[in-house]
Formats: sequence, structure tokens, C-alpha cells
Amino acid sequence: MCGIIGYCGPKSAEKVLIEGLKRLEYRGYDSAGICVILDGKLVLAKRKGKIRDLQAHLPRTLAGNCGIGHTRWATHGEVNDTNAHPHADCTVRIAVVHNGIIENFATLKDRLISEGHSFASETDSEVIAHLVEKYYAGDLEEAVKKALSLIKGTYGIVCLHADQPDLLVGARHGSPLVLGIGDGEMFLASDVTAIISHTKQVVYLEDGEVVSLSSRDYRTTDLHDQEIEKKVEHISWELEEIEKAGFSHFMEKEIFEQPESIKRAMRGRLDFEEATAHLGGLNMSTRDLLNVERVRIVAAGTSLHAGMVGMYLLESVARIPCTVEISSELRYRNPIVERNTLHFVVSQSGETADTLYAMRELQRKGATVLGICNVVGSTIARETDGGVYIHSGPEIAVASTKAFTSQITVFYLFTLLLSRMRDMSFEAGQEFIQNLQSIPAKIETVLSRSKAIEGLAKKYCEYQDFLFLGRGINYPVAMEGALKLKEISYIHAEGYSAAELKHGPIALIGEDTPSLFLVPDDALRDKVISNLKEVKSRGGRVIAVAVEGDEVIAEIADDVIEVPRVKECFYPLVMVIPLQLLAYYCAVQLGRDVDQPRNLAKSVTVE
Ligand code: AGP
Ligand code: GLU
Repeated sequence: MCGIIGYCGPKSAEKVLIEGLKRLEYRGYDSAGICVILDGKLVLAKRKGKIRDLQAHLPRTLAGNCGIGHTRWATHGEVNDTNAHPHADCTVRIAVVHNGIIENFATLKDRLISEGHSFASETDSEVIAHLVEKYYAGDLEEAVKKALSLIKGTYGIVCLHADQPDLLVGARHGSPLVLGIGDGEMFLASDVTAIISHTKQVVYLEDGEVVSLSSRDYRTTDLHDQEIEKKVEHISWELEEIEKAGFSHFMEKEIFEQPESIKRAMRGRLDFEEATAHLGGLNMSTRDLLNVERVRIVAAGTSLHAGMVGMYLLESVARIPCTVEISSELRYRNPIVERNTLHFVVSQSGETADTLYAMRELQRKGATVLGICNVVGSTIARETDGGVYIHSGPEIAVASTKAFTSQITVFYLFTLLLSRMRDMSFEAGQEFIQNLQSIPAKIETVLSRSKAIEGLAKKYCEYQDFLFLGRGINYPVAMEGALKLKEISYIHAEGYSAAELKHGPIALIGEDTPSLFLVPDDALRDKVISNLKEVKSRGGRVIAVAVEGDEVIAEIADDVIEVPRVKECFYPLVMVIPLQLLAYYCAVQLGRDVDQPRNLAKSVTVE
């Protein structure tokens, strides 16, 4: 968790660092700081709060050309100015920014204190600065390597020394770090959004790698000093993709982008002539795919909900047994890996620690693991045996929206591919493609009703509790709607299977707890209507998301949001849009920090 940045070059380090931190702020935003080398001394500025709070309190003289910056998501030590990074050694000659957790920091700290070091903060990270101090004898890279060899846990770090005004040392183990190669300048950052306005040439570091850089040169090695040859990669997207483009928030922009982002997820992958999908990145032959007997999907949060939709699809359409698991749970229950089970890990960021470690555990046990990721070059994307990029473009808002619909789109493609190898007919395959291709236009229709949804948000945003109810393939959509509402508006919301209501949650129903029902015209419609009536007869208010012209629903629900009719299994893609909009408008109405909700961060790189 958190964002780190480092810069060496001719520009004002302060400007580059602050601009980079603003772009990284979505990763963590409880406090921030920078450190710049100026006239052989370190100048540090750290502040609790957002980057703008830091900016308002920067010292006037920060005119150095080499520096590091950090935006924090605290794990050890409360959120205050002192615990903010960078952290310095006793002499304030060495400074470090750290992303991750040093698991053995208490032992290391005790030892360092007994050796005479004095600590300023309560963080685990500060031990790195003191360890580097202990081992520094003129060679910063060597001292960093010695320090890191004692550390257990995860880190992405960047370190500098006041005596060496054109040198940064970075290293990673479990937290991302990318090197940006500019013209006479170099960057290090947690992700490329921080540096894309300066360069598109990057090198992704792997776990166990260390990079030393000056403004003109860099060298990558492992902790044992072996040189490592790295590939320079080119970023294909543009700066505009990480700007708001006239929308009030990134979340709003990303919701409205979905007709386009879904098309991007499908582009070049549908084959109408053969009535199938092409997913080259799977690295699996037709024979391999035919041998698949079951599928297991592993993910967290919104990606988990997308995986659940995938499970319904794979079972009902491709007729493959499928399970979905929370990645953090799977990792620690010594999972059984059966032959012929194909595993998917789903992760927008490709850096979620819970999902990454679950993936490694599965691979250790011999599983073939495919990834469904958005961030190109992310750790999960690189370590999986194959996979599919969703190509949503950068998702900046902490609440995931466009990644969810694109992850689901990839499951439609994979379902089509597997089904056509089994018992789906040519005609049924073509019909499936046509249905999928019709979805972006249907989403446009839902988006065109955003004003009405904004009106509903005004009406309902003062409630403290909400239930979201759906069945079958729309049950995970209900869970996703509840997650969206709680994470950005802080209204308590739960997603349930509508049938499960009567097994407990119905006790909550009353005039203070509205329910949102998903009512598509599918095989479970009548059952859902019965559940809805159970709520109405107990005095509960009901918003229904129903199909255009559904008069039965219009009659019984208090409010209706209409969505276009689609083929049964495609409802999640249209039903989730009003839920995203409702959450968004409630949060705006309540004056919440929509893109950076409290306590959260975009990419959760700690367990
Ligand atoms: C989504 O709105 C959440 N912020 C969160 O649940 C997220 O989906 C989860 O942390 C998983 O992230 P990933 O897709 O990057 O792995
Ligand atoms: N563990 C460190 C801290 O609490 C780093 C957290 C982060 O990754 O932001 O300061």
C-alpha cells in the first residue's frame, strides 16, 4: 500500500515529486512527505493529510535535483507528521521511503536501540534507515543490500544519502517498483502513472532486485550483487487517460467510460465466422482447454464479485464445475490442487497481496494459474502462467467500476471459448456474440438516465442502512452494489441473495432500512417478486432495478430504475450500472471524498 517516487535529474525534484505523489495519491492518502538533497544536506517535509496539505507546508528552499517522496497508508504507527515518510537515520544523512511491512522490525529496532540508535517514529519502516546507517561506509548500494538481507517482510523502497546528490537506490520484495528512463533524468515509482508525463520508457523491477541510478545511468543487480539484464518496456497509454476529462470525479468518468471500456475488452477477441473467442494470452492449446474439468476463481473485493459472476456463467453456460474463493482465505487453508483444475486470479491492480500470495501458493502446489488483470506489467500479470488483460485503461478512483464490467466481459469471452469446444452450437455461439456486442449500447441507455438516479440518491442518501438483493447471476451484482455504497458513501449496506432474506436479514426490515432489489426478467423473476413483497408487507421501502415497461414491479416498488431487456445471462453488465451511479450520487450528496474514501487505498499490497 502507498505510493513512492524518486527523482534524479535536472528539474526541480520538489515539483516532480509533488506531481508524482498527486498521481499516486489514490494508492494511499493518510499522510505524505518528501526529502530533497540540498547543498549536501537533507531537507525533509512531512505532513499528515493529503498531498495538498503537504504542499501548503513545504519549506521555501527545496531547490534540489534529487529526492524521494511517499504517500502513506499506515500499517504501523498512527497517522501523524512524525510517522509520515521519508524516514531518516540518526544523523539525518540517509532517508528512505518504504511501501510494505517489515515483519521483524521489533527485533531489529531493539537491537539497533541497544547499539545506540535513536528512533523518531513508531513505524516499522524507520529501521531501514538505521540499518543503512549502520552499514554505510561510502557505498550506499552496498549498505542497502546489507540492510535488506536482514529484513523479513515486504518492501518497495527508495533510499538516498546527503553525500551523494545524484544517486538513488531502490529495491523491491513484494511491493511494486518501476524505473522510468528519461532524457538525462531517472525516476523510480510505485506505478507508471507517477512518471508518464515525463517518460514512457520503463523497467519493471522483480522481487529481489535492486537498482542504483543516477540522472544518466542505472544498474540492476540482485541482493548478492549479480548483475541483471532488464528489458526496457514502452508504455502505450497517454497522459489524458489519467486526467478527469471534464468529469467531477474519476469515479464518474470511469462509470461513464464503460460502453467504451467493455468494447476494448472485447476488441479483436470475438470471431463471428467461427462463433468463438480468441484469447491468445492464455497460453493453452485446445487440448489443454478440453482437459479442464473444473475451474477455481480466486480474488478479493470487487474482483471477487466479478469472479462470482464468472462462476455462474461457467457453470450455467459452459457446464464446467466452478468455485470462487476469497484469496486471503484460500492462502491459509492449505488448498488442495486437483489435476485438471484451471485457476483464475482476478485483480484490477495485479498487486493485491492477498491474491498474489494465494496465487503463489497455488503455483507451488502445481496449479496452472491464469490472470485477469488490468495493470499491464503488474506482479500478478507477470507471474501467472497466462491470462487476459482487460484493457480498461488506468482506473484511478478507489472504488472499482469499469474494471468490474470488463472483468465480467472477459468471463463471457472465456465462457464462449470453452462452451464452443464443448456442446454450444455454432448458431448459439453467434447469438452469444451478438448479445454481448449489444451490451455497450444498452449501457449507454442506462447512463442516459443518470439524472433520475441522482434524484433517487437525494431521496435515499440520509438512510443509515441498506439491503441489496438479487438472485442467481445477479446475486454477486447485489453484493457489488452494497460494496460500492458502503465504501464511498459510508452508508452501511449488505448484499444478499434475495432468498436468503428470510433466513435472518428480514429482521432488519422496517421503514428505516430500504432495500434495493434486482429484478430481471429471468427464470427467478417470480421468486424475487415474492421476496420483494415480503419486504413491502413489513413496511420496508423498495427501489427496484427492473426491465423497461415492467408494470408489475412499477405497481409494487416505491421507486423503479429501468434497464433495457437483455438475454438472461447478460443482466449483470446492465444491472450494475445503476448501482454504481446510485453509490456515486449518494456519496456526492453527502459530501464524501468520492475518489479517495476514508481508510481505503486503491491497491492493497499488504496482507
Ligand atoms: C473495489 O471498489 C475495492 N476498492 C476493492 O474491493 C478491490 O476490488 C479489491 O481490493 C481488489 O483489488 P484488485 O482487483 O486490484 O485485486
Ligand atoms: N509499514 C509502513 C508504515 O506504516 C509503510 C506503509 C505503506 O506502505 O504506506 O508506515
